Amino acid sequence: MQRSTSKTPLLSLIPEPVKMIFNSGHFIIKDDTLILADSKLKMISDYLKRLIAPPTGFDNQIKINNSNELPNNAIILQINTELDYLGDEGYHLVTTPKNVQISALYPAGIFYGVQSFRQLLPAEVEKRSYVSSVDWVVPCVKIEDYPRFSWRGFMLDESRHFLGKKIVKRMLDLMALHKMNVFHWHLTDDQGWRIEIKKYPRLIEVGSKRNGTQVEGMWNFLTKKVNYTPHCGYYTQEDIKDIVSYAKERFINVIPEIDMPGHTMAALAAYPEFSCAGEVFKVPTTFGINTDVICPGKEKGYVFLCNVLDEILELFPSKIIHIGGDEVPKTRWKECPDCQVKIKTEGLNSEKELQTYFINRIASYLIEQGKIPIVWNDTLDDNLVTEALGQHWLHGDEKVLEHLRRGRKFVISRFFYAYLDYPYTRIPLRKAYSFEPLPEELEEKYHLNVLGLEAPMWTEWVSTTKRLDWQTFPRLTAHAETGWTLQINKNYSSFKNRLERFLKRLDLLGVKYAGLNKTDPTIFRRVFSSTWISVVIGRLLFKLKVKSNQENITD
Ligand code: ACM
Ligand code: ZN
Repeated sequence: MQRSTSKTPLLSLIPEPVKMIFNSGHFIIKDDTLILADSKLKMISDYLKRLIAPPTGFDNQIKINNSNELPNNAIILQINTELDYLGDEGYHLVTTPKNVQISALYPAGIFYGVQSFRQLLPAEVEKRSYVSSVDWVVPCVKIEDYPRFSWRGFMLDESRHFLGKKIVKRMLDLMALHKMNVFHWHLTDDQGWRIEIKKYPRLIEVGSKRNGTQVEGMWNFLTKKVNYTPHCGYYTQEDIKDIVSYAKERFINVIPEIDMPGHTMAALAAYPEFSCAGEVFKVPTTFGINTDVICPGKEKGYVFLCNVLDEILELFPSKIIHIGGDEVPKTRWKECPDCQVKIKTEGLNSEKELQTYFINRIASYLIEQGKIPIVWNDTLDDNLVTEALGQHWLHGDEKVLEHLRRGRKFVISRFFYAYLDYPYTRIPLRKAYSFEPLPEELEEKYHLNVLGLEAPMWTEWVSTTKRLDWQTFPRLTAHAETGWTLQINKNYSSFKNRLERFLKRLDLLGVKYAGLNKTDPTIFRRVFSSTWISVVIGRLLFKLKVKSNQENITD
């Protein structure tokens, strides 16, 4: 990164931009500063005005004008077709004592330029109430910037705990501050179905409610102790539209996940006829992998899932739709006459091939509708439809490499770096920051097949904003930098320095992040922390789980 050496103001950006040069002087925003924007940028100029107004008390006028004029005392947002070398999301930001110019080839770039401009302003700009004691001064800089990866994602599991619209919108706001652009919304799982599907009302009536929740802690984990506090919640289709449009204003694509054929107990509690044996189920109150999954032997199951997807496609404009495919025990399929008939009639050799057959049927349906399916990597198979993307979370490095070399595209979420639900004793901030999405062994010619990274937040033990914040921040800040910043510009000690200032913004936004005295525990603390026994037992149980999972997959 290019920086001036002397008189560099105490300013810094996260993610670190490609090039930033500080010049002398500064620009001051006043009440009569004009926001001058290209007609394609009305939404962003409104966003900028809404950002500045509460703390400054200013009522900056917006003027929409496509000319190339560069008036004084103005923040100018301009589309510039000559900036194609900065890509779809890159931008130029120049501040002089006279004005501020943010230019880009596309609106997304302008939005990211606005986010950088925001971080050049005093941290108090984050306050949502009037601040009297601050001069709204921006140093003179020249920034040229673009992201390393096109997929910079955050995943939120709302099945294990339903958090609700306000919290989701707050997360989208925080993602925007971090220049993140994919919100992967895990809306269905064993412990709750969270989206209204009009054709199947019982998904909500039955599937969105459970009688209690497993209590956190090692012994409770072993004994599966449950509190009997009912937990419920779901999004109406109107809520979904509202959230998708809120995300769009922040240049965030919302990718819904309807996990299948496993992790479907909530759906099967509502409609047991789509399971193998059709018995009565309850929405589980405990966590782990359930043996009851969708029956791929019955045609009515495909009709059900395609009808659900029809409603999903109406609600989510995303080109990419997640269909899960993780952790699918084959126990029931082995005993099920319908599954066994399907294996025979389709000329399949195993239950594993039946899973690929199932995923391919659903994936092909989405492809026919002009969509691109994505699946977790444990469902990868040589016969998986070529168009399907993969999300790498667990082992299988060799297989993922093979698929990458064959041209399959991946998002990388390796669990031991990217999972936000793990304690800091297992994934310290330094380790999260060291996450490298490009596999070391992957030849350069295949690098473009790695679309980027995603940090998943599984919410088994997360039921409050406080816990969500603690687990997520500042590790998501580290992942945001990995997703955006060129690898050669990444440096942990520079990140930590910049982070100290960035955290002031998070403070003012009310984020209850884990403090820097907690995020990188010493080896001593990591070994002797109160969680160490559960780490050891957790590892053991995890190994057992993976082993039985692999046996199930390869059977
Ligand atoms: C996963 O963590 N089961 C994708
Ligand atoms: Zn079956």
